[in-house]
Amino acid sequence: MACFFRRIIAEKLGRTLQHSEDAFIPALSAVPLFKKQQTPDFKLSISSLRSSGILPSSADIQQQTEDLASQLKQDSVVEDISAGSGVINFKINRKLLVQKMLEPFGKEEDEKFGLNSELFNTLKKGTTLVEYSSPNIAKKFHAGHLRSTIIGNFIANLKQSLGNSVIRMNYLGDWGMQFGLLGAGFGQFGCQEKLKQNPLQHLFEVNLHVYVQVNKEAEHNEDLKQAARNFFRQLEQHESEAVSLWQQFREITVDEYQHIYKRLGVHFDIYSGESFHQDQAQEVVQQLQSRGLLKTSEKGTGVVDLSSTGDMSSVCTVLRSDGTTLYITRDLAAAIDRTEKYCFDEMIYVTDKSQANHFHQLFQILLAMGHSWADRCRHVPFGLVRGMKTRSGEVVFLEDVLDEARDRMLHNMNQAKTTKEMDDPKDTAEKVGISALIVQDFKGPLQSDYTFDWDRMLQAQGDTGVFLQYTHARLCSLIRKNEGVEAALFDPSLLLEQTSINILQHLLRYDEVLHQSAQDLQPKHLVNFLLKLCHLIASAHRELPVKGSSQDVAQARLRLFSGACSVLANGMRILGVTPVEKM
Ligand code: ARG
Repeated sequence: MACFFRRIIAEKLGRTLQHSEDAFIPALSAVPLFKKQQTPDFKLSISSLRSSGILPSSADIQQQTEDLASQLKQDSVVEDISAGSGVINFKINRKLLVQKMLEPFGKEEDEKFGLNSELFNTLKKGTTLVEYSSPNIAKKFHAGHLRSTIIGNFIANLKQSLGNSVIRMNYLGDWGMQFGLLGAGFGQFGCQEKLKQNPLQHLFEVNLHVYVQVNKEAEHNEDLKQAARNFFRQLEQHESEAVSLWQQFREITVDEYQHIYKRLGVHFDIYSGESFHQDQAQEVVQQLQSRGLLKTSEKGTGVVDLSSTGDMSSVCTVLRSDGTTLYITRDLAAAIDRTEKYCFDEMIYVTDKSQANHFHQLFQILLAMGHSWADRCRHVPFGLVRGMKTRSGEVVFLEDVLDEARDRMLHNMNQAKTTKEMDDPKDTAEKVGISALIVQDFKGPLQSDYTFDWDRMLQAQGDTGVFLQYTHARLCSLIRKNEGVEAALFDPSLLLEQTSINILQHLLRYDEVLHQSAQDLQPKHLVNFLLKLCHLIASAHRELPVKGSSQDVAQARLRLFSGACSVLANGMRILGVTPVEKM
């Protein structure tokens, strides 16, 4: 595989430059394919050797490149070595490339393809806690929560594939004054019957009522506000009646969400929430005080001075003037609690970018408190989704988006008449619809905003999740039809066509792509890699038919197709997409 060849080239470089071969691994990379042009397999970056001190940076870089290229000897593995501009190109013996790349498949090692790469040795290992989704109880679900859910799931899957032990956590917005309003509002407008039938809908309605009442210039609204304060105080004092109503709200909401997460193929190890840390938040305030970090502002609130000059020009409020804590105070408590409970090696928070400053302040305060592990915490921000609408209008609940994705997909499948041979077309449409949502979301940089577009994301031909699924299903059907033809052995010299070499050259990049995604936590590298793979597979379907070929050729081609199929399926699973076998 890629590692095998990278190692051989590194050895060669080590011998020539009298240097440990490991130092060359990061400077070597598989070359991405260019249109209509044959590409070398690997390239060595001379500037990277200069910056790591292996070559002097004072010399002329092109001269260095050419000198080194001429010193390196070709052999039976590396067939051709040539100097490019600032890079040295390496071409691997074609037969060996085919043989090594396709060797792991068909030996029950398919799933590990690309995952045992030595490139991953430099990544952080150990326990990764990923916090994602984290919706607010009784509030409208917004596109941001869907983004957080699928991005967090991707990060958790990726880390897990690379050998980390992963804790998946959902941190619910289940505390704060709004629960006072909700509790009080439920007393006036709520109905237990409706709550049980359709909890998210009903709690949302109650909330809406409350919101309208509170913002109305009527004399009753003071009563409601007072009732809300009372209810929240009862909650804070753990009074059983208030607590049990709140608990009911929380439980039925979690149940409902779990149902949706299941449809999305997402799960959590822990359902935590702001409510878990209300008492600890007060302890945090005391710790801040005893460390001399808590200041009182002119408004009487408790603040932490985050300015570099100590002149309170930049502060973060951690305590209201009435002594109650805030979102950030609970986050401080939650982070400290998690480090004690789970001993994580890194913690990742996934939210929209409007919270970037919140997390920046959170980490700053933790460091000021002496928690050096705050350096191992990371916020992954993402942009806004514009125009997420369903046929019935603005999206209120996540479920509506999932239903619509499924129904539109089912409609497309019916029109293309592909549903006939399926056992459960609705289930297939659901999986394909969700992959369309995910791929649309993951194609660009996470930080960018994008516009939601049903028609574009459901296209069967463009760079969509539907195209990934379609390619996978087509490969599965080819493999099914030729059951019994595939053999343990195949002749690599029957796979030397450019179409086949292109696929293998592309697969050489797989571990680098995963490595890149693991570093910057951006799914776009993997998504674009898989889309490109699907385009290459489409050419191979046209140019390398299995049907009608001689037994040997058919066997070799099937090996190529099944290798490509398993990398595609593994990559899709990391993205959080369930590959379908028929569509
Ligand atoms: N519930 C919050 C929201 O919907 C997101 C929570 C993010 N996580 C955290 N630890 N603050 O905006």
